[in-house]
Amino acid sequence: MSAASRSAVDAPAAVQATSLCKSFGGVPALRDASLTLRPGTVHALVGANGAGKSTFVKILAGLEKPDAGEVKVRGERVIIATPDRARQLGLNFIHQELNLVPRFTVLQNMALGYSLPTRAGLVSWSAVRRRARSVLARFDSSLSLDADVSTLSVSDRWMTSLGRSLMHEPQAIAMDEPTASFTVEEAERLYGVIHTLTSSGVGVLYISHRLDEVLELSDEITVFRNGEVVGRHHRGDLDRTELTESIVGRRVRDLRHYQSEAIGISSDHHPAEAHPPVLSAQNLKAGKRVVNATFDLRRGEILGIAGLVGSGRTELARALAGADPLTSGSMLLDGRTYSPHSPRDAIARGVALVPEERRSEALVLDESIDFNINLATMRQNRMRRWAPLLSPSRARSAAREYVDSLSIKSASTKQDVAHLSGGNQQKVVLARFLRTNPRVLILDEPTVGVDVGARAEIYELVKSQTSRGTAVLLISSDFEELEICDRVAVMREGRITTILPANKAGTNTLTALCYHHEEEQ
Ligand SMILES: Nc1ncnc2c1ncn2[C@@H]1O[C@H](COP(=O)(O)OP(=O)(O)OP(=O)(O)O)[C@@H](O)[C@H]1O
Ligand SMILES: [Mg+2]
Repeated sequence: MSAASRSAVDAPAAVQATSLCKSFGGVPALRDASLTLRPGTVHALVGANGAGKSTFVKILAGLEKPDAGEVKVRGERVIIATPDRARQLGLNFIHQELNLVPRFTVLQNMALGYSLPTRAGLVSWSAVRRRARSVLARFDSSLSLDADVSTLSVSDRWMTSLGRSLMHEPQAIAMDEPTASFTVEEAERLYGVIHTLTSSGVGVLYISHRLDEVLELSDEITVFRNGEVVGRHHRGDLDRTELTESIVGRRVRDLRHYQSEAIGISSDHHPAEAHPPVLSAQNLKAGKRVVNATFDLRRGEILGIAGLVGSGRTELARALAGADPLTSGSMLLDGRTYSPHSPRDAIARGVALVPEERRSEALVLDESIDFNINLATMRQNRMRRWAPLLSPSRARSAAREYVDSLSIKSASTKQDVAHLSGGNQQKVVLARFLRTNPRVLILDEPTVGVDVGARAEIYELVKSQTSRGTAVLLISSDFEELEICDRVAVMREGRITTILPANKAGTNTLTALCYHHEEEQ
């Protein structure tokens, strides 16, 4: 804890929430949840998918009304009925789904909700611009105020949201999974920003599934499980394993368990090497970003793809899965020419992509979990192979199987996916594509926003698919996650520059290769 934050311990809490309760349709999401955020400190809020973290934050933000409980801000009891009220109280929020207006500029987005200074009845944009510039300068951001937010990377969009919060000089700020899709360096930049904020006395409520960063950053940690507080800790009180167990409520296997060595296969001589390629890509060029990609994906292996945001990984995945056409190059699937003209065509040939943008690209939000899981496999649910009639019970039992094996937290499989927590939505999308039993499974950032227990379940499922011969292409910005791969390809500026065996693909090497630092071999 910094000197500033130590002295802040005696100051009145920035926010003190006591015994908050909230149910949705009779199902409790929060039960007697209490938490005290002190000025000048980082307080992490952790818990499994659906534990109630976002709900808790939404109550403080005036977006949800609690059924019971009270909130004090700097010692005064308050009712936060609207987001405006929260702002007046000095509370600011960067929610899990960023509410930026596409096609507005960074400046316009930052000005939203800010009481615009006027001169002779006209908005003084030059004053707003000055203010916005000084806010961005506080965290050394090189964002252009005139850039259209739709053209920005995920992390820059997030920084725009942060900029918007800081326009108001908040006393407390809540960040709901900021680093979920950040690269290592982007996350480092955010930690710097957080340090600047706490040094100036701001209290930061920090929600994350990345436990290493939680342990590193936080002065205090509160653990939610099923809407209840099950643990309160101070810096240094507990280690990663203890924190994991507290979140999940049971022991969880270490990531290393999923590595080839740990399951008795040496990565120097992985049997996948003897396997023929399932998918061969030769000099692929696609969209604006994929310039030249050549690789083989072998039966039963997991091939990772490391790269920075914008390096062309997602565009490559889309081309492989028939979502975007190739400009040039060729592909073979099981030795035969493969040029899918749509995702549906790719799925029919056995190539499935679980996309990164799950909410907008993959989910039908006002349909049930049942419907969404079965969306790509309607045919398997026919009563008879030749009959057009669908068997709802077969569809439902398939959905239930995945709800169990991936621990999708929901009231029933008939529930709309719109109201599932972020991580549980991700699991629904994954279940849909696992159910197609693909020859090639492409996962684009599969565990973003997924809790540590469910991650283990996802790796378990992926491994069981590879043992049945499925070849997996795994795109991940989390270099630790790439440890489950047999080989890792590095993509830089649209090109696959290197392919490394697992034992050579440590975090430092990958970072260096992605950024093209001197250490590159
Ligand atoms: N508007 C809503 N209607 C119905 N149920 C809801 C609604 N909002 C949240 N829930 C339910 O409340 C529970 C808590 O959800 P919440 O979003 O707070 O979880 P979370 O801890 O933020 O999870 P994640 O880590 O996945 O983001 C979940 O079971 C979710 O399905
Ligand atoms: Mg959430």
